[in-house]
Amino acid sequence: MIPAHTGLQDGPVYLDYNATTPIDPRVAEAMRPYLADWFGNPSSAHAYAAQPKAALARARTQVATLIGADEEIVFTGSGSEADNLAIRGAVLAAKSDRPHVITQVTEHPAVLETCRALERLHGTEVTYLPVDGDGLVDPAALAAALTERTVLVSVMAANNETGALQPIAELARITRAHGALFHCDAAQAAGKIPLNVRDLGVDLLTIVGHKMYAPKGIAVLYIRAGVALEPLVYGGGQERGLRAGTENVALGVALGAAAQLAVEELADGGDRRIAALRDRLHAGFAARLPGRIHLNGPADGRLPNTLNISIDGVQGHELLAAVPEIATSTGSACHSGDHTPSPVLRAMGLDDDRSLAALRLSLGRWTTPDEIDRAADLLVTAARRAA
Ligand SMILES: Cc1ncc(COP(=O)(O)O)c(C=O)c1O
Repeated sequence: MIPAHTGLQDGPVYLDYNATTPIDPRVAEAMRPYLADWFGNPSSAHAYAAQPKAALARARTQVATLIGADEEIVFTGSGSEADNLAIRGAVLAAKSDRPHVITQVTEHPAVLETCRALERLHGTEVTYLPVDGDGLVDPAALAAALTERTVLVSVMAANNETGALQPIAELARITRAHGALFHCDAAQAAGKIPLNVRDLGVDLLTIVGHKMYAPKGIAVLYIRAGVALEPLVYGGGQERGLRAGTENVALGVALGAAAQLAVEELADGGDRRIAALRDRLHAGFAARLPGRIHLNGPADGRLPNTLNISIDGVQGHELLAAVPEIATSTGSACHSGDHTPSPVLRAMGLDDDRSLAALRLSLGRWTTPDEIDRAADLLVTAARRAA
């Protein structure tokens, strides 16, 4: 039984779960004793260390269970940090004169900017693979781009704007057959679809707490046993020497609890419930604005909670400004009042009109059929008025 969420009561309909998720009250409850009572440093040699140390170990196991890993879990302070640690860490640890990295154009800035910094600062060559109209990488293009100098390939599991699922198992197989490491940013996929690092064949995988009902400021990098990384943060030997700093026990516990809830929710068919609501929303638009709705991203092979659509004749940001009862995102970025199309939609070949018309509607644990019907009503009415 999902407990009610006080943060969502009386507010606009929240359809922005890909931006961040509310903290599940059960997660907040699990972390509370580690804020209120169990304050000890897990590295201390006395009794106050015992509870925090055991709790952190339990949390690591809970996260490992979500992704089919053993104890190969390193906590970080954000998804961006986990991506930085994976990519920079693998490249620097390779100790190559002219390392080569392959990624793709619709990655999150946490990946793209890390690659750019490696180009700028560490003589790394980076290949940015293109995507097709659905936002997908062609495995043959990856195979053609691999060289003897390729140290690492980094491709996300699911895109944050369209929900497009990359063919990770195939991309990882090609990469590892070539002797390079494979990193997957699974920030948006973890908890929403089943993920198993062994089946996927990945070496490194990023998970982010605030995308799966844990607080912001906690994430995980899965590091397959035997993979060497250069740390980002040097100091004490915490997190197997890969991330110095006294552990944030409460947030680690929170992510562990969130991972366990995600395992239970997936086993319970929660992903199918959300996909059905997502499709009801899409159908609501298509039936009432015939010919004006275009799906951005693949119809199949998409996160169950994500609907990215463009509505002909309206700009996404204008539509949302007219409907403050809905909290969701557009396919554009606003810089000092100017709206520019999302680089992700642009990379998929969408023209500016269609990109600027895009809405990213993302559903989650507290989304109800009533909310979906209300969102469709309000947005359809506003779109009719605007056209
Ligand atoms: C795909 C993806 N990767 C990485 C991140 C970064 O996570 P964080 O905000 O914890 O740094 C996000 C968050 O928006 C994301 O969607």
